[in-house]
Amino acid sequence: MKYTQHSNLAISIFSFIFVLMSASLAISAESETEINFETQILPILQNRCFSCHSTSGNTTKPKGGVQLDSVKGIEMSLHGAVIVAGEPEDSLLYQRITLPEGDTGIMPPPDEGAPLSTEEIDRIRKWIEQDADYGEWTGTQSESKPLMTDTHPHQPTVMPPITSLAFSHDGKYVAACSQAGVQVYDFPALNPQRTIAVSARNIHDLAFSPDGDRLAVGGGNPATEGIIEIFSWPEGKSLRILREHRDSVTAIAWRDALSLVSASLDRDIILWDLRTGTAVQRLKGHSRGVSSLCFLDDKETLVSTGVDQSVRVWDLTSGTLIRNMNNHTLPVHDLALRPDTSGLPMVVSAGDDRTVRFWQPSIGRMVKFARLKAAPLDVAWLNNGARIVATCADGAIRFVDPESVEVTGEIQVLKGWAYALAVHPRDGSIVVGGLNAQVRRIIPD
Ligand code: HEC
Repeated sequence: MKYTQHSNLAISIFSFIFVLMSASLAISAESETEINFETQILPILQNRCFSCHSTSGNTTKPKGGVQLDSVKGIEMSLHGAVIVAGEPEDSLLYQRITLPEGDTGIMPPPDEGAPLSTEEIDRIRKWIEQDADYGEWTGTQSESKPLMTDTHPHQPTVMPPITSLAFSHDGKYVAACSQAGVQVYDFPALNPQRTIAVSARNIHDLAFSPDGDRLAVGGGNPATEGIIEIFSWPEGKSLRILREHRDSVTAIAWRDALSLVSASLDRDIILWDLRTGTAVQRLKGHSRGVSSLCFLDDKETLVSTGVDQSVRVWDLTSGTLIRNMNNHTLPVHDLALRPDTSGLPMVVSAGDDRTVRFWQPSIGRMVKFARLKAAPLDVAWLNNGARIVATCADGAIRFVDPESVEVTGEIQVLKGWAYALAVHPRDGSIVVGGLNAQVRRIIPD
């Protein structure tokens, strides 16, 4: 949806994590049999760990702040991520059982007998790689105090930021993209359900098709190639990969069931025919990377924005630039079309100059703007166009009335950058995603 220098920085910081993740995804894709927690993992923990790490063990308090006898206990460990689904190397438990023999930190401690066997360690590794599914097991129901509330318990302390979010059409799932791939959460609990493995190394945007049966994901390898991958939904099967962009794809907008447009840091916008997988139109004009796209209702007029601070209006079929509007004074991150307007179509843009601006693209006019306390990174319309909500660089969301351009509300949601938001198709709640893979649901009044 939006591409920022900040997320660029985050990309390089976190790309190493991504390499680890893609390696483990590749392994889990081929792994033969599913490990059953209760029959294959739990007995190891019971025999070798529970004496010190359970509430019913020799001591009343689990050792080292690590409680292993319930899912809750494991998730609430004092020391953070005991188990990181999919990531054995990031899981404290796995780290401790694989230390070199004789190392003082090895678990179980040396005076408690031999280390776990290679076979046991492999089995635990596979189970974590297969997403650490506990099945029906929840463990002892003893009281424990929640210790981690800021990040999702399944996540390690450092995760790539979420850069885009989208609801499935039935409203039951939210798909999130980050440099780690596509993560699907259930709604409203926002528990991670599964990941979809993507071909692009970095991904920036995702969008469901008009009938909701496909998911397009855009990303790429910086300064090398841009990739758009189309998946079936809900299966998550890769159907097609589109490669013509010469730099990362930053935004995707579906035109209809058979075509979509993509924006890229290579400065171009491409219209794709999905029946043939070919680029049928290439819009050139932005002098720097393009960050966001939105169609007007005619599906013929396209609005784009980007790092060059401009908001541009295009006629898609002829491929011509109709207008170029230059009121923003810094890069622009996002655009959204006001729903259900009777008058001239209106779009809102969100820029690094800390403004949200309201435009009438068909006449090339900026109507109004509001300046916020922090840069808005993603915007959406609420209440049939009666107000907008923006997620901001300080982790807050802000509501703005498009008529009075007053900030009518502000809610602090995340710690640090809140890059992405999505509005539920029916109940109006907002899901916000950002730094460290935080996701939160907000119910606006
Ligand atoms: C005899 C008691 C004992 C047994 C058995 C034992 N542990 Fe521990 N464990 C400890 C103590 C004490 C600590 C805290 C000191 C430390 O971190 O080394 C600890 C700490 C840990 C930690 C926290 C590491 C951190 O960085 O904070 C993990 C994870 C762990 N144990 C896992 C296990 C696992 C898995 C098993 C079984 C395979 C196990 N332990 C068996 C005593 C035990």
